[in-house]
Amino acid sequence: MISIDLEGRTALVTGSTQGIGEAVAAKLALGGARVGINGRTPATVDAAVARVNEATFTDRCFAAPGDLATEDGAAALAAELPSVDILVNNLGIFGAEPALEIADEEWRRYFEVNVLSAVRLIRTYLPGMTAQGWGRVLNIASDSAIVIPEEMIHYGTTKTALLAVSRGFAKAAAGTGVTVNSVIAGPTHTGGVEEFVYQLVDKALPWEEAQREFMRVHRPQSLLRRLIEPEEIANLVAYLSSPLASATTGAAVRVDGGYVDSILP
Ligand SMILES: NC(=O)c1ccc[n+]([C@@H]2O[C@H](COP(=O)([O-])OP(=O)(O)OC[C@H]3O[C@@H](n4cnc5c(N)ncnc54)[C@H](OP(=O)(O)O)[C@@H]3O)[C@@H](O)[C@H]2O)c1
Repeated sequence: MISIDLEGRTALVTGSTQGIGEAVAAKLALGGARVGINGRTPATVDAAVARVNEATFTDRCFAAPGDLATEDGAAALAAELPSVDILVNNLGIFGAEPALEIADEEWRRYFEVNVLSAVRLIRTYLPGMTAQGWGRVLNIASDSAIVIPEEMIHYGTTKTALLAVSRGFAKAAAGTGVTVNSVIAGPTHTGGVEEFVYQLVDKALPWEEAQREFMRVHRPQSLLRRLIEPEEIANLVAYLSSPLASATTGAAVRVDGGYVDSILP
């Protein structure tokens, strides 16, 4: 029997009070890891910790609150949680905005939240991982890193940057037993996406119809022809976090429902 064995490991999943992050936290906990759940406020974090512990019949999740879009927030979290074995940089914001109307400030905000938040935490935790000779860093990217959507080029650009960040830090960790990879997630059924879908399709449509309309009009390349469930992304993250994935590093691994029309990853 093959198993995802994370017993004795500590993980941090950023932006994990809902959506993909929460699903990843649950999956890592089921694999045996202690998992820090992160979001901006203690209230949302505590609620997610309780939900995931109950859903996984474990008490492996703990609160790791902090606004990771800021240097101070990242430093405060690092002081509370000085080392981890598995870092999942899942935090990311997205929204539709006409390309010519995205102001400098908005470009900067996307870069801070989607790129620098990950870079800061890698700088914090990678040295400990390399010193102990084992570690996993996963950066959650997106199909939008490769197929830049016209309605959110700021988002797509930050996700392309994350692919480069992953490849670069994998080189910095070469030969140490630490792997650094990005996960290219495709269109996924999360609360955040429901809001996004309703920015683009008729708000009066019930969710099932709105989803089908969104995929038909805005994501026709999907081979899955449906949104991906967060747990399906979490399955890949759990595998890449595990000892089973010891030879995968510096890679961008896809769980995108075949959305990116390419033979290569
Ligand atoms: N959903 C998709 O279709 C899709 C597709 C491809 C890739 N992705 C990527 O997958 C990741 C997760 O997406 P999602 O849809 O699951 O996200 P989501 O549902 O919008 O959740 C965002 C999470 O980030 C937290 N958060 C927001 N700002 C924060 C900050 N400054 N500091 C700390 N936490 C913060 C939120 O917690 P609080 O509100 O409690 O602070 C929440 O837990 C993102 O990187 C996204 O780009 C998503």
